[in-house]
Amino acid sequence: MREKVRAVVVGASGYTGAETLRWLFGHPAVEVVGATAQKHAGKKLAELWPQFYGHDLTLTAEIPPADVYFLCLPHGEASKLAPSLQAECIIDLSGDHRLPEPVHGQHYGFSREGGPWPYGLPEMGFDRMLGATHIANPGCFATALSLALLPLSGKMQGRVSAVGITGSTGSGATPSDTTHHPVRAENLRSYKVLGHQHVPEVEAAIGDIKLDFVPMSGPFRRGILVTFTLPAVPARLWETFYQSNPLVRVLKKPPELLHVLGSARADIGVIEGDGVTVVQCAIDNLCRGAGSQAVANLNLRMGWPYALGLDRIGAVP
Ligand SMILES: NC(=O)c1ccc[n+]([C@@H]2O[C@H](COP(=O)([O-])OP(=O)(O)OC[C@H]3O[C@@H](n4cnc5c(N)ncnc54)[C@H](OP(=O)(O)O)[C@@H]3O)[C@@H](O)[C@H]2O)c1
Repeated sequence: MREKVRAVVVGASGYTGAETLRWLFGHPAVEVVGATAQKHAGKKLAELWPQFYGHDLTLTAEIPPADVYFLCLPHGEASKLAPSLQAECIIDLSGDHRLPEPVHGQHYGFSREGGPWPYGLPEMGFDRMLGATHIANPGCFATALSLALLPLSGKMQGRVSAVGITGSTGSGATPSDTTHHPVRAENLRSYKVLGHQHVPEVEAAIGDIKLDFVPMSGPFRRGILVTFTLPAVPARLWETFYQSNPLVRVLKKPPELLHVLGSARADIGVIEGDGVTVVQCAIDNLCRGAGSQAVANLNLRMGWPYALGLDRIGAVP
């Protein structure tokens, strides 16, 4: 048995970085050997995030040596940094390595050198990440949308439409016009209608579909809920597909954000109607949509159990 894998989180002063650290600190086979920041470099981790009280780690500007790096950086920064890093595995939580060109450039506004990295949605095949040196962690909306549709992959084609709502942490730690409390609280608005950058991820993951997606920003901090209205499909398809998956729960009622917050699990609700089936997926955008999914990808890359260190109970209530 090898010693613990040494992990560094790059961008630990941000939301996904802090959440990735939270999961790594509780992981039995990982040792956190560093956490980096840009403007917050030099601060103690627990000074910036009191939630980490008791963990004596200082955020550094330099990136220490490690076996695995988690890149939790803004779009454009991860792809600039990655070629200079040497490690057994680099897991990118940004959108820099998910899509092929020219689709990537069309959605992110810059072209990337080289092809996309292996796409780390575990449910697309649990052995796909074994031994991977580079992993592109899926987007948060893309994760919820793809998990809702994956059991239909190869069984459906054509147009599908969905609506989805996300909390304000989806926009990161830097305040902006759209995350400022007075415009976010008690408000609901759509954005990037039919043009969200996660749509091509979902279309590639499911295959043979064209997704019309209406994203919304909601007046809460964490969580994503997406809804599809589909032609009649039996709920047992979802039950069978996710049967022995410890990180997906299939319900015959609508899922709720409160039941997945702080948890690595996705809840999928399938409601059968008269000639119609409604499928909803609820996740925590910072866990299943980012940090805990990145750790699940490390587990699969190392050949460890998929849910190692991830079977924690979420926030109650
Ligand atoms: N938020 C979500 O729900 C979510 C979900 C899935 C994926 N993602 C993706 O994950 C990535 C990180 O998102 P986030 O929400 O965690 O963002 P964030 O809260 O804004 O954090 C960004 C982090 O990157 C650091 N940073 C910024 N520019 C840097 C540079 N030039 N060099 C080094 N470090 C730099 C920041 O350090 P300082 O603060 O110290 O300057 C901070 O630690 C983004 O690409 C995002 O799209 C986000």
